[in-house]
Amino acid sequence: PLNEPFDLVLFGSTGDLATRKLLPALFSLHFDERLPSDWRLIALFRRQHDDFLDALQKSIMSKHSFDDKTVKTKWNAFIKHIVTFSFDATEPGNYGELKQVVDQKPNVNTIFYLATPSALYGKIASGLAKAHINTPNSRIVLEKPIGSNLESAVKINQLVCRHFKEHQIFRIDHYLGKETVQNLLVLRFANTIFESQWNQKYIDNIQITISETLGVEERAEFYDHVGALRDMGQNHLLQLLCIVAMEPPARFTPDAVRDEKVKVLRALRTLTDQDVHKKVVRGQYASGISNGNAVEGYLDEEGVDPSSETETYVAMKVEIDNWRWAGVPFYLRTGKRLVHRACEIVVHFKEVPHSIFDLQHKNTMANKLVFRLQPDEGIRLMLCEKKRGPGVSVRSTELSLSPDYLNRKRVPDAYERLLGDVISNNQTLFVRQDELIAAWDWLDPILKHWDESEQGPESYIAGSWGPAAATLLLAKDGRLWDETC
Ligand code: BG6
Repeated sequence: PLNEPFDLVLFGSTGDLATRKLLPALFSLHFDERLPSDWRLIALFRRQHDDFLDALQKSIMSKHSFDDKTVKTKWNAFIKHIVTFSFDATEPGNYGELKQVVDQKPNVNTIFYLATPSALYGKIASGLAKAHINTPNSRIVLEKPIGSNLESAVKINQLVCRHFKEHQIFRIDHYLGKETVQNLLVLRFANTIFESQWNQKYIDNIQITISETLGVEERAEFYDHVGALRDMGQNHLLQLLCIVAMEPPARFTPDAVRDEKVKVLRALRTLTDQDVHKKVVRGQYASGISNGNAVEGYLDEEGVDPSSETETYVAMKVEIDNWRWAGVPFYLRTGKRLVHRACEIVVHFKEVPHSIFDLQHKNTMANKLVFRLQPDEGIRLMLCEKKRGPGVSVRSTELSLSPDYLNRKRVPDAYERLLGDVISNNQTLFVRQDELIAAWDWLDPILKHWDESEQGPESYIAGSWGPAAATLLLAKDGRLWDETC
């Protein structure tokens, strides 16, 4: 239960993230009556936006199919909690004014939510401290990507940590809020049958795919400085990898879980220049057909530098140097403008050591455990069974664990879960400083190699499965990418 009164001070309220994900999630919590009666959203934006509430209402209504009559009443109650405030984070005087707004409600927990470029995080943290707005009970939420390489991430963290203690800092990675990711933890650590097989003895390889059909949309200017590796690889892909690969934590507490995740990141095999060349593929979409519509290439998108070498696709082979995973490759990929939207973690088990049956489709017969996060959620286990009828031929079958909440009208969004966790002060699903730094530390050689390389990203047709080099990456190991559908 989210009982305690709070103020949510949102920096970057008119940004894509706030209107598309964060504020609809806040509305959902309100709609389900999960918020306390006493809360405020202090929405900050640089320029006054008269149509802020209209735009927000539109975004919320398009996202959820709420029952019409209730939604109006709920919306009217929701906006009574919103205070809008014109604010420039680089303007020291503005912090004094913000303090006055915050001080109108003493004794509530203040949550500062930074949905701005991370280069501003240090400035905002020190502005809040200088104006004495933050207290030992305040929380600060930091959106990803934090920094653009190891050096900048370390610096931003140092600046924020001058004014906020680690237990006050919530580094958000919304993939950790997805229901199936949490279900993966339960499946692994609450069932004897899986954990006993979860190692190099029985697992051949693990694949993680996050594919999107969207292009850069309205975020070209931001995205062109970031690219797929920083936007999705450094955080979502590596976090999913940690959840699959971590050792069982001793208990389900924030630090016990994060202690195990950081060990995975520290055990990732360091990539040399040669390795980056062999094990990491970057691509950039060219024009093509996406969802039945002709779409332009990345370089023709408005706001993109026409000579940009920013990658919109990345695939990599990652190895973990520890006892559990020795010799088991993890193949990770993500990209924009791919065939369809999907997110899957697929655990490929080894074939039986000696087959007594005649397997017609040998490649498809090894067991597979599929965690599907998107577009729908569910878990499937692929097994072999006898084909009915005379003789003994074997075919593959599927055990499906479709979560019962899928029958409900509205599936809770990841941001809803995580926002609830910030309000109730639970850091389990948030990234700790050491995890963030370990992830950047591992990625830095890739970024450096790309910076120095004369070869840019390989082009791929929009609506395809990405560059040919990504197929080769697995083909070299005698494997294929999973077909997500
Ligand atoms: C964000 C990225 O973190 O995740 C976006 O910045 C991406 O580029 C988005 O589109 C995908 O999230 P989801 O939950 O829609 O898969």
